[in-house]
Amino acid sequence: MKFINTLFLLALLMVLAITLSSATSSLNDEPNSSLQGTSYFLNRKQNRISMSCDKYPKICYIKGSAGPDCCKNKCVNFTIDMFNCGRCGKKCSFPRICCEGKCVNPRSNKKHCGKCGNKCDSKGSCVYGMCSYA
Ligand SMILES: *[C@@H]1O[C@H](CO)[C@@H](O)[C@H](O)[C@H]1NC(C)=O
Ligand SMILES: *[C@@H]1O[C@H](CO)[C@@H](O)[C@H](O)[C@H]1NC(C)=O
Repeated sequence: MKFINTLFLLALLMVLAITLSSATSSLNDEPNSSLQGTSYFLNRKQNRISMSCDKYPKICYIKGSAGPDCCKNKCVNFTIDMFNCGRCGKKCSFPRICCEGKCVNPRSNKKHCGKCGNKCDSKGSCVYGMCSYA
């Protein structure tokens, strides 16, 4: 009895493996596969999937995506992306970082002191990335 159960499980696993591998190869052969196929891929290979948001902008909303926005076929998050801050191609040059879609200098910015969203209160100032009340 136990042996038969094991055999059945093995057969099931084999069928599953075959189904999975054929699904993968058909995705590779067919660049214009359905969105459903794409979301399968998102879970497996994040980079692959983010490479087609030009065609399917909605894939950037799928859980696990780098962000809701699409630049050059890649899903990005305009809010915090250093290379696409607020819009595609807007780079923040050192020492500035991207906070709320804007390049800011965390060493001196009172709203983003040291890091995004670290706000110094009205009396403080941001000195070298730390709120100072001296
Ligand atoms: C895939 O889509 C592109 C552009 O959307 C189109 O030019 C191409 O012919 C399509 N390929 C297939 C196999 O449907
Ligand atoms: C984009 O980044 C912000 C800041 O980290 C985060 O709150 C937001 O959830 C992100 N959006 C998506 C869709 O991941």
